[in-house]
Amino acid sequence: MSYQPIDYLPYDFANRRHIGPSPEEMAEMLEVLGVPSLDALIDQTVPRDIRQAEKLDFGKPMSERELLHHMRVTGAKNKVLTSLIGQGYHGTVTPPAIQRNILENPAWYTAYTPYQPEISQGRLEALLNFQTMVCDLTGLEIANASLLDEATACAEAMTMAQRVAKSKAGAFFVDENCHPQNIAVVRTRAEPLGIEVIVGSPDALEADTVFGALFQYPGTHGHVRDFTDQIAALHEAGAIGIVSADPMALCLLKEPGAMGADIAVGSTQRFGVPMGFGGPHAAYMACREAYKRAMPGRIVGISIDSHGNRAYRLALQTREQHIRREKATSNVCTAQALLAVMAGFYAVFHGPKGLRAIAQRIHRKTVRLAKGLEAAGFKVEPAVYFDTITVDVGLLQRGVLQAAVREGVNLRKVGKSRVGITMDEAVRPEIIEAVWRAFGLVRKDDDLTPEYRLPEALLRQSEYLQHDVFHMNRAETEMMRYMRRLADRDLALDRAMIPLGSCTMKLNSAAEMMPVSWREFSLIHPYAPEDQWKGYKTLIDDLNAKLCTITGYDAISMQPNSGAQGEYAGLLTIRDWQVARGQGQRDVCLIPVNAHGTNPASAHMVGWEVVAVKCDANGSIDLEDFRAKAERHSDRLAACMITYPSTHGVFEETVQEVCKITHDHGGQVYIDGANMNAMVGLSRPGDLGGDVSHLNLHKTFCIPHGGGGPGMGPIGVKEHLIPHLPGHPLNAKGAGPVSAAPFGSPSLLPISWAYILMMGGGGLTQATRVAILNANYIARRLEGAFDVLYRGSQGRVAHECILDVRPFEKSAGVTVEDIAKRLIDCGFHAPTMSWPVAGTLMVEPTESETKAELDRFCDAMLAIREEIRAIEAGEMDREVNPLKLAPHTMEDLVKDWDRPYSREQGCFPPGAFRVDKYWPPVNRVDNVYGDRNLVCVCPPMSDYAEAAE
Ligand SMILES: Cc1ncc(COP(=O)(O)O)c(C=O)c1O
Repeated sequence: MSYQPIDYLPYDFANRRHIGPSPEEMAEMLEVLGVPSLDALIDQTVPRDIRQAEKLDFGKPMSERELLHHMRVTGAKNKVLTSLIGQGYHGTVTPPAIQRNILENPAWYTAYTPYQPEISQGRLEALLNFQTMVCDLTGLEIANASLLDEATACAEAMTMAQRVAKSKAGAFFVDENCHPQNIAVVRTRAEPLGIEVIVGSPDALEADTVFGALFQYPGTHGHVRDFTDQIAALHEAGAIGIVSADPMALCLLKEPGAMGADIAVGSTQRFGVPMGFGGPHAAYMACREAYKRAMPGRIVGISIDSHGNRAYRLALQTREQHIRREKATSNVCTAQALLAVMAGFYAVFHGPKGLRAIAQRIHRKTVRLAKGLEAAGFKVEPAVYFDTITVDVGLLQRGVLQAAVREGVNLRKVGKSRVGITMDEAVRPEIIEAVWRAFGLVRKDDDLTPEYRLPEALLRQSEYLQHDVFHMNRAETEMMRYMRRLADRDLALDRAMIPLGSCTMKLNSAAEMMPVSWREFSLIHPYAPEDQWKGYKTLIDDLNAKLCTITGYDAISMQPNSGAQGEYAGLLTIRDWQVARGQGQRDVCLIPVNAHGTNPASAHMVGWEVVAVKCDANGSIDLEDFRAKAERHSDRLAACMITYPSTHGVFEETVQEVCKITHDHGGQVYIDGANMNAMVGLSRPGDLGGDVSHLNLHKTFCIPHGGGGPGMGPIGVKEHLIPHLPGHPLNAKGAGPVSAAPFGSPSLLPISWAYILMMGGGGLTQATRVAILNANYIARRLEGAFDVLYRGSQGRVAHECILDVRPFEKSAGVTVEDIAKRLIDCGFHAPTMSWPVAGTLMVEPTESETKAELDRFCDAMLAIREEIRAIEAGEMDREVNPLKLAPHTMEDLVKDWDRPYSREQGCFPPGAFRVDKYWPPVNRVDNVYGDRNLVCVCPPMSDYAEAAE
């Protein structure tokens, strides 16, 4: 019998798995668009003179199996030792229930930032648990829903202190016992803002010379001190006291709030999140109620919905960059939501008793270790400690460190003669014995009742985690169901398309995600010796090289761990270059009005003045205004920040001219790479005239959004800027570091690398082309019903399009919000709302969505348009209609129904699935109520019971 060969490659990842539409569907879509081929569509969309000369070619793409094998081989080059280096990074035990149900569960990791609260109640509750945990452990009143890492949290706390302090002093004090990376990042942040950083012993603090002071608790070498007196002195002088505290230590020790601290920051890494060679982890920040409006980052709060039921949503958003731009409290956009959820669940999982027990065990292990060393005559410091000791070994330092490595343990090199050791939850008795052997001691870990070496006066007096959520029955059945219940309340990418313009919510494939939780990638300490992370080096070097090829830049810095952090790092790089060539006076940054809020906020962070540039009627940069402003500020022009293709969803044909004008006036060009999904393989920012760009690896390169983070925002630069890139956090030569870890959040990098390796150059280019096809298909299908605000010269949109829904406000009283909420009834996350143009929707389908899903969305939008038409025609009431009353809950369906439209129309509009219908758990959330009645910690359990009744 002979076989006919079938033209189908089952393991073609790019075309069969990652790219949504099949070849047949693409042909149908092209027909709808009236173009003969995808090539022809791209020719009409992407201007010829910005197209890259050479095809992207990375050799043969890998199949999923080949990729996973390749990752195993690469991972095996990393040596996983037990790292007792400490310095803010610790071994931890991720409860398997959390690993499987949260970290490895697309319902959690593919969710978007909870800007649409009705479809985000699950993750908002989880983040509120995190905030409650942080408030309780620190003894402060209000906490945010995570920051990027401990070092940046320290820097944020410094600038926040400057905003709220009564003292007008220009200096900031930093405890010399802070982790070195915290000091380094604070210094980087302070320099452009003209803040003098004084590093010294807390005993030497002169409170009236500073606007604030930062202390580390416990100190980097283990000291546990009470800062009550220092903070009182700071208050006397009108200055702010900040404590960077280890939350595990706070389970046993007096909390910063009890010392009078105004702000507490720290990392929650050791609450179940592996070290990951530096990240991602959630940093936290808590402060006094009085300072809540000065707080950076997102805060989850409680409000009510339109029926008066309790509902969560993001609070006090008027502080944030997307509203206040350069006047915002910070540039934070993507943060560390998924990791905060994990840390919050770790506390739910263990409860206060469990956490206290874990902290006690860590302390007892440290005491046992110290006693063994002391018995052999070693000098152990300090006298009182929680989990960290240092041992003076004099000339033996090198030998001890090397012997420890031979025993499979990394210890910390402290100065020239000491060795630091930090214990953690995961340390077993055999590890303690191995450490003793490294010091030449052979003994058994048999002291099971060591006395405490915590300072009596600093033992914690207050209770914590009293809320019922931390006291539920922790049987895994119950935990699993709680995690499932919360996930089910949310709409993430595992249920439906999330067509958020500028956010690129594309597939995060399972194969890309798998290596993230492998021990070879997750258990490496960020400061482990270089020969232990050869696998990471291979990965990072190759990813850097490929990203350079994709972008046209000469080098990449992997340090920034979000897009906004990349902007900040890129602008610092430009600033450093300007200073080095004697042009330090340049402090003006031209930014078009349609820029993302992080752009002006980042420019402000490097001390620059933001000058806004107008856009013309087509949504492009107004070239004349740009030229005039560049000329006016010629002597002071430091840089411009543009986004390409523009946030208006078009490939502007004047981009090269904009770059030339900037360069002619001595400025540098920052191209925001958030829209790289429209460029990969077709056009390179480095060829257009860009000097720096950040890449949101959590958009174009498949890192999932995690419900608001993690992310990675590496920057690409041209050759002349390479010496000015961020330096190593522990050894900065030249420019200072912007993150705590040298490569930001490297345990995410296998995801982007896997994506590139499985797509290959051709697959990546095809993804870009199909992203453009999908956006144009939506624009065409909605033609006549909704106006597309901006198009390129040949009538095409780029990878996203802005739908103008503003006229409906006048014609039917329908707002953009009404449409967004109605889409929830149809089973969709709304597109980006009111940005970059107020009152509009920006739709970005990405290449990963199939034609069927695009059609479902278009059908839903067209049905919504018909509902608007019914109001316009007077057939439906302007106030009581399915749009105004959206979203509809199951509660609405079963209650008495006295509406002028049917239950069927209300609850099952086109798009909604009948069997797999997504039901939002709450009706429309009242934002104003929530800000007027601010509550940012878990409400009493009786409220939950009421909600469930
Ligand atoms: C155009 C643009 N620039 C910058 C950013 C900021 O990126 P991140 O959220 O990673 O900080 C975004 C985020 O959505 C964006 O859309």
